[in-house]
Amino acid sequence: MNVLGVETSCDESAASVVGADGVRADIIYSQRVHEAYGGVVPELAARAHLERIAAVVEAALTESGVSRPDAVAATAGPGLVGAVLVGFSWAKALARAWDVPFIGVNHLEGHLLSPRLDEPDLVFPYLGLVVSGGHTALYLVEGLGRYQTLGQTVDDAVGEAFDKVARMMDLGYPGGPVVDRMAALGDATALTLPRPRVRGEPMAWSFAGLKTAVRQALAREVLDPKDVCAAFQEAAVDSLMSRVRLAMKQTGVRRLALAGGVAANEGLRSAALALKADGVEVFVPPKTRCTDNGSMIAYAGRCHLMAGRRDRLDMTVRAQWPVA
Ligand code: KG4
Ligand code: ZN
Repeated sequence: MNVLGVETSCDESAASVVGADGVRADIIYSQRVHEAYGGVVPELAARAHLERIAAVVEAALTESGVSRPDAVAATAGPGLVGAVLVGFSWAKALARAWDVPFIGVNHLEGHLLSPRLDEPDLVFPYLGLVVSGGHTALYLVEGLGRYQTLGQTVDDAVGEAFDKVARMMDLGYPGGPVVDRMAALGDATALTLPRPRVRGEPMAWSFAGLKTAVRQALAREVLDPKDVCAAFQEAAVDSLMSRVRLAMKQTGVRRLALAGGVAANEGLRSAALALKADGVEVFVPPKTRCTDNGSMIAYAGRCHLMAGRRDRLDMTVRAQWPVA
């Protein structure tokens, strides 16, 4: 079954075709219009999706050699509603025109399942750490549609903290990749940053406090941005990994998959891979599968379609949509 997947929930216009043998085409257009603003401007994101969606979908179909897929999947949320609507409506119209099944996919579920796309060895159950610009949560993934939230952030998402720290030092947007590159050149011991905890909730994260600590350090003394990046990244990665280790103790599940934009971070990837030395099975997807893409939507949609789910064409989008 070849499934077209469409993703427009934030600032990537993406379309992919996934079949029985995996990804047949994966087209991602990252919007540049937001760079001048230091963050995603929802209204501009929606308009930019409108300009690109036809070309992106067309390119995915051409590259895959599939002119009429067997089904269409699209992100239905969570995300910026105006942005989600563009890809969602386009996908519904295509499903209607081709007279094939349509399925509205939860973007977080797309991230959570996507590591399985390239990794046949990633079997259920596993711990799924979803770390992106809008979400930071650790899930127990027991099967398709069977997810338990083990911990999540009480304030900023970790990707948001990366972006804000980058903005404090005028490093550009999105900040995550820049901080990642600069951290590799800096000295994390040049400043001491806290590993904020949430009272009474050992599995929860707080990244707002970490971000504030960086702001205060920058106001207090003259620091090399490379060192700030290194110290911030180390603190963020430590926080993420300490909850992962706790979850492994609590659940007994020793299989971990990373997902979401921040899973492209070198510091996080190597900290996760280091768990292999203790016999943990670790799955770190290729970087292009970490940030938003259409293949994760096509794949999650395909899993549900194979399980018999079909969505109606009067389905609507959701700004908030917890996956568990
Ligand atoms: O999953 P994603 O593409 O979109 C959302 O669903 O949010 O994640 C985007 C986030 C941004 O905050 C970006 O700065 C961050 O992922 N990011 C990174 C890296 N690459 C992307 N953060 C840290 N290190 C990276 N290499
Ligand atoms: Zn995402």
